[in-house]
Amino acid sequence: MIDLQLTDKTHDEERQGEALIIDAPKALNARKLYIESYGCQMNFADSEIVASILLDQGFETTGNYQEADAIFINTCSIRENAEQRVRNRLSQFGIEKRKNPKLIVGVLGCMAERLKSKFLEEEKLVDVVVGPDAYRDLPALLEQVGEGQKAINVLLSREETYADISPVRLNGNGITAFISIMRGCDNMCSFCVVPFTRGRERSRDPHSILAEAQDLHERGYKEVTLLGQNVDSYKWKGSDQADDQAETVVNFAQLLEKVALISPELRVRFSTSHPKDITDEVLYTIKKHDNICNNIHLPVQSGSTRVLELMNRTYTREWYINRVDAIRSIIPDCAISTDIIAGFCSETEEEFQETMSMMDYVDYDFAFCFSYSERPGTMAARKLEDDVPEEVKKRRLKEILLKQQESSRKRLQESVGKTVRILVEGYSKKSDLDLCGRNDQNAMIVFPAVENVKPGQYVNVVIERCTSATLLGRIAD
Ligand code: SAH
Ligand code: SF4
Ligand code: F3S
Repeated sequence: MIDLQLTDKTHDEERQGEALIIDAPKALNARKLYIESYGCQMNFADSEIVASILLDQGFETTGNYQEADAIFINTCSIRENAEQRVRNRLSQFGIEKRKNPKLIVGVLGCMAERLKSKFLEEEKLVDVVVGPDAYRDLPALLEQVGEGQKAINVLLSREETYADISPVRLNGNGITAFISIMRGCDNMCSFCVVPFTRGRERSRDPHSILAEAQDLHERGYKEVTLLGQNVDSYKWKGSDQADDQAETVVNFAQLLEKVALISPELRVRFSTSHPKDITDEVLYTIKKHDNICNNIHLPVQSGSTRVLELMNRTYTREWYINRVDAIRSIIPDCAISTDIIAGFCSETEEEFQETMSMMDYVDYDFAFCFSYSERPGTMAARKLEDDVPEEVKKRRLKEILLKQQESSRKRLQESVGKTVRILVEGYSKKSDLDLCGRNDQNAMIVFPAVENVKPGQYVNVVIERCTSATLLGRIAD
């Protein structure tokens, strides 16, 4: 199975296996914790919750697993190769475990939830298995491990949102941060394992979301990304703080506005939007506030109505086009990115061409493209045959990628000659002499560092040229 992606740097599986560490004063004799995360942004956000819980237990983080007392791997099950990567990594950790039998190896996240106790049977070196809704139980589970037992908690919850836990910002640049606004998913797309690994959808209390965003702003952060599998179905029903009796309902557009109002200096992004749920109210909210970024991730999956129906996406090609048209008319300079699956069950050549023509119609700024990977237990695995041959999937995926490369380049090219406002995020990966940051549309811009311009500042940059994925420019006079 291959996954090829044309990526921005903030999406599912783009960040694979990053170790998460924080700079904090080191305590004597503190136990050392190493956490590595795979999968979507939500998993990375969860690792920050886990770190917060474990730091309270006297752990400190390390970026070197060879010196750790406990290694945790936060896993993803979205495609078979995502799971394979985790298993390969676990066998590397196994070498450490053989050297140091006291080392604790823990598996967190979606694979833990999917495989449950099977993990402990299959991977003998694993001591503790914890699902995404059970992280509060980690101290008790570690105690059990300390007594020489294996420990597991994979209970899913209808309420858990970790609203009261302040995430420890790991590996942070101190400028951009994720905020989970909801958990789980109720959509049951037939190909997708997420409803099984993350449980039912629930929204987090808006007061705690706003408090977290406000706190980040006060600590100098300049950008927050609101995260959920389907942010447009965010809905909070609760009592009004000012008047205990009155019930209030907060929808996503209202939440977005409240976060945007914290400060014009705090940029707001969000992901992921579901085509069936994104409303004009959300689009007008984006239009109304300059600090809500003009960038919508709107996964299409397929351009064919028949395939979309088999996928149980609950929208048609025409509906999707209508949503794209609404975005284009309400927010003309909005970037649109997407996810596409090549070779879903029974996809014909004509239906594949409908995906290609959808790509022509939208001219996506970015796309994350995958070949279909059957996941055990999903509706598609139970009811549909994974009958598109592997080489056909690969060929279709390649064609999709080539088309996206053209669109991405064309979109970037449109910025050449323009002056854009960007938030400087840090130094370029390739050179300390260059700074980099993103514009409103989420394109990455690299430019020569100049005195007085530092990460965390907003600056205007003149775009001079582009590569296939990056804009290059210089500070505007
Ligand atoms: N909640 C988001 C998607 C989260 S998963 C949404 O509804 O759009 C991220 C992406 O992984 C999906 O959009 C889909 O394109 C891809 N994906 C999910 N399951 C897959 C599978 N079984 N095979 C291949 N790609 C898959
Ligand atoms: Fe999966 Fe569909 Fe939910 Fe996205 S909306 S997480 S693709 S079930
Ligand atoms: Fe993967 Fe779980 Fe996210 S399956 S994509 S880590 S919700």
